Formats: sequence, structure tokens, C-alpha cells
Amino acid sequence: MNTSTEQITVKKVTTSRLPEVDFDNLVFGSTFSDHMFMCDFKDGAWQDATILPYGNLSISPAAKVFHYGQAVFEGMKAFKDEDGNVFLFRPEENFERINKSSKRMAIPEFPKALFFEALHKLLALDKDWVKGGLGNSLYIRPFAMATQVGVAAAPANEYKFMILMSPVKAYYTGDVKVTIAQKYSRSANGGVGAAKAAGNYGAQFYPTNLAREKGFQQVIWTDADEHKYLEEAGTMNVFFRINDTLITAPTSDRILDGVTRKSVLAIAERDGIETDVRRLTVGELVAAAKDGSLKEIFGSGTAAVISPVSAFGYNDEIFELEKPQDSYSERFKKELMDIQYNRAQDPFGWRYPI
Ligand code: COI
Repeated sequence: MNTSTEQITVKKVTTSRLPEVDFDNLVFGSTFSDHMFMCDFKDGAWQDATILPYGNLSISPAAKVFHYGQAVFEGMKAFKDEDGNVFLFRPEENFERINKSSKRMAIPEFPKALFFEALHKLLALDKDWVKGGLGNSLYIRPFAMATQVGVAAAPANEYKFMILMSPVKAYYTGDVKVTIAQKYSRSANGGVGAAKAAGNYGAQFYPTNLAREKGFQQVIWTDADEHKYLEEAGTMNVFFRINDTLITAPTSDRILDGVTRKSVLAIAERDGIETDVRRLTVGELVAAAKDGSLKEIFGSGTAAVISPVSAFGYNDEIFELEKPQDSYSERFKKELMDIQYNRAQDPFGWRYPI
């Protein structure tokens, strides 16, 4: 196996699809850039790393991914500054996390040099797909899936690792109202909650649909044992501001170690905002909403950045939240975006130039 750098074969498109794209009316994650990356695992090694025109794959219907969901993914973004320079945000974190997720799903880990070479080459080819301007970005979706043919329930011996890129704007538009999970669970002790395993997200669709029917856009997931502790919000980590303290659940094998989550905590600590990484109970949240000390709830994630929650439902009560003058969610969103779009110093070294 050769995993040194400069080993990717590049097949370019003959005509770019860029002029056909309506960048003002993008639906999140449904338009893809001209090129994609693909690498196969077979005979015990990652090989045939190729960048090729974005397009359909031909895969056996008996590939294990379709039967056992042996697949993991990541979410990253590329941003363009006012001078046209392109940056990634903390890509090492995504690289480490996809391998952590792969390990949990018995997928072979991917080589770091190849991951970064793929990102550099894809972004060099498709740099015009990264639109400038606050709120515009290129969402990058690395993923790995089991392609071995056969429905025996055992880990595959063949996989594909791929990277797609999709120009995006905001993930959520408008209010996000959430309901607190009282019946369904997102993850369990010893499960795959901390991994970006594909089925981990698919399993949320049904309870989220039930929530939607009741007028909520997302679910705040609670612990599977007692539905007592607040853990994550939909596809995001979740923060609560009670008085001026920022509270979020500690990561565990049930909770995703979010890159945006850890960036918010670092910014808060730098700015002297009190943080409390602990398990917050639903009872405490409801009491804080009733006595007025609950100031804000917001989700954090790569796709959604920072997403303020405008109301939450619990039992049959709805608790509305009015955005305070000194909104933490607005502040963190601005501070994060200033770093991402190269509009401010980067004291943490999070920007990664391409
Ligand atoms: C991300 O923020 O990258 C996510 O994982 C959300 C995705 C499921 C759309």
C-alpha cells in the first residue's frame, strides 16, 4: 500500500456545471460541485485514490452498507474571505473524528496524508464553488461505506471512502422550536451516539417527524434511561444559558464531540463567560424557564453553525424564549464566523488555508 502524498489520480470534468447553479436558491446539501474523491479499500489496503467528475456509482444491491448500515460520515466547511482566499475550519478535528467513528463501526481507518491531499486537490479544482460573503460556504461531506457484496452480518472487507462538496447557505431558516424527548432516544450507553454513524441520524427521522406534526422542527434528546438529562438537539450539540452561565452536557459515548461545541466553549472561556459542562436536568430547565433565569437555548454544529431555539415544549406546555439584548448565540455566531471568514484574528489557530 502506498499512502504517501501525491498519489491521487485526477480526472477532470470537460465542462463545469457551475454556470447552471442558482446560488441564491440553494437547498441545503442538494447541489454538488464538479468533482468528488473516491478511494477503495480492498485486499487489506486503501488504494486507487481518484478525483473524478461527480456522478452516480454502480454498487451491488448486496453491498453490506445497504443491509447493515456500516457507514460513517463527517461534516466540514470551506469559507472564502474578501480577497478570495479559501480556508477550512479545524479540519484535523474532522479527520480524527471520522477515524474514531470508523473504529466504532469496524471500518478501516483512513490515512491522514491522503485525506488532506484529497481536500487540497478537490478545493483547488472546485475553488469557484466556494462563494464569498457571510453565510455562504462549501459543505464538505467525507464518508465511508461497506461495499463488499454479501448479506452475512459481519464487517465488510471492502469499502469506499468518498468526499463530496456542496455549496450551501443556512441550514435552518426561521425559528427553531424544539420538543424534549420523553419516549424515543437517540443513543444509549455503549452505543454509537458519539460516532457520526449513518444510522445514528436515520434513527432520528421518525421521532423528528412526529415532533414536526406537532409544530416543532427538532427534538432535544434526553438520556435513554430516565429521559431526565438534556443531551443533544437534533443534529447539533445543545447549550443552555441560565442567568449568565453557559451550560452544555459533557461528551460521552452517547454524545457527539462537536467541533463547533468545543469552539464555543473555548471562545466563552477566552471571553470570561462562565461555562458549566455538566448534565442539566429537564426539571432544572423547566424551573429556569418558569422563574425567568433561562435566557437562551441554542444548538451548535457544522451545518447549522449556531442555531437559536425560539421555544421548547415539554409535557403539554410551551416555553417561549425571547432573544436577550446581549444574546450569547448571536455573539458566538459572529465570533465563529469572523474567524471562519478571516475577518478577525485567529488566536486559536483554527483557520486552515488551502
Ligand atoms: C453537520 O453539522 O455537519 C451535521 O452532521 C449535520 C448533518 C447531519 C446535516
